[in-house]
Amino acid sequence: RPAAPSVPPPSGAPGDAAGEVAEGVLAAAWEWAKIATGNMLGPDQPVILHLLDLEPAKNALEGLRMELVDGAYPLLEGVLTFTDVAAACRGVDVAVMVGGYPRKAGEERKDVMAKNVSIYKSQAAALAENASKDVKVVVVANPANTNALILAENAPSIPPRNITCLTRLDHNRALGQISERTGSHVSAVRNVIIWGNHSSTQYPDVNHGSAGGKPIRAAVGDDAWLDGEFITTVQQRGAAIIKARGLSSALSAANAVCNHVRDWLRGTPAGAWTSMGVVSEGAYGVQPGLVYSYPVTCAGGQWKVVEGLPIDEASRSRMRTTEAELKEERDLALQCLAERKE
Ligand code: LMR
Repeated sequence: RPAAPSVPPPSGAPGDAAGEVAEGVLAAAWEWAKIATGNMLGPDQPVILHLLDLEPAKNALEGLRMELVDGAYPLLEGVLTFTDVAAACRGVDVAVMVGGYPRKAGEERKDVMAKNVSIYKSQAAALAENASKDVKVVVVANPANTNALILAENAPSIPPRNITCLTRLDHNRALGQISERTGSHVSAVRNVIIWGNHSSTQYPDVNHGSAGGKPIRAAVGDDAWLDGEFITTVQQRGAAIIKARGLSSALSAANAVCNHVRDWLRGTPAGAWTSMGVVSEGAYGVQPGLVYSYPVTCAGGQWKVVEGLPIDEASRSRMRTTEAELKEERDLALQCLAERKE
């Protein structure tokens, strides 16, 4: 049998109220169950899960461990629980970073910035010192792009190409909207792109995609909708779910994490790309070092930005707007970290 990878969740929601902690553990439960059934690494890959949370969540975490054991998942070779981040990171091959204060109704992602970036700075050190040398990291907690940037800056021994953030959730949301509008099965909608930040400035771009074999613009036949309501619906879907559920997305986020890691490690399907937040190397004129969502293809565990797509003026302007927000977030994050040090 192939070596079992460890799949740790460095930290659930470090809430100060018991309810918030339980919410974090519950949201993560979707993730672990999906990983245990092979959704993330494939049907032949055994896994060992490392579950990390704060001390107040210890009992909830033990309950989750018991439920995972009771699932009798054939691929699940072990479930270990931790409240110590260094121990949780030991030897892991894939790190799903869900730790952070979740955004509440009415809050902007920037509101959770100060609390969350300092978590990422300390977890960067734990990962760099303890995880496997080729650990693949996907940051989910918000502000996801900027948390990933802070992680990359504070874990210089981890190759920047191994640090990503989740925008597959936005990508899937865009596929879902186009599928509903055109009546094409969602699997027949391909090659949408999420550019930039996992926030309300992201740019869901349909100009290179197809639905039912036709260009999306022709299949939809309504440019005003595509350039207006479609974009805002995808940009604000996270907030709409928080408003409807009273809680941040959980099932769709867990599904997107599995899609993200699976495509990264096992490859994107022929002729298709996905969207991933990656450390910019300057493609499409984006400032190097920012964690920016691009269209990527993956093979052999490596992602590659889809280069050379023609970008019209309206798209260019939206891509710059979301890049400008990422620069602002980075500056704010660095300022928060500097103030914490003083
Ligand atoms: C989402 O997109 O569902 C999450 O990132 C929640 C949020 O804060 O937007």
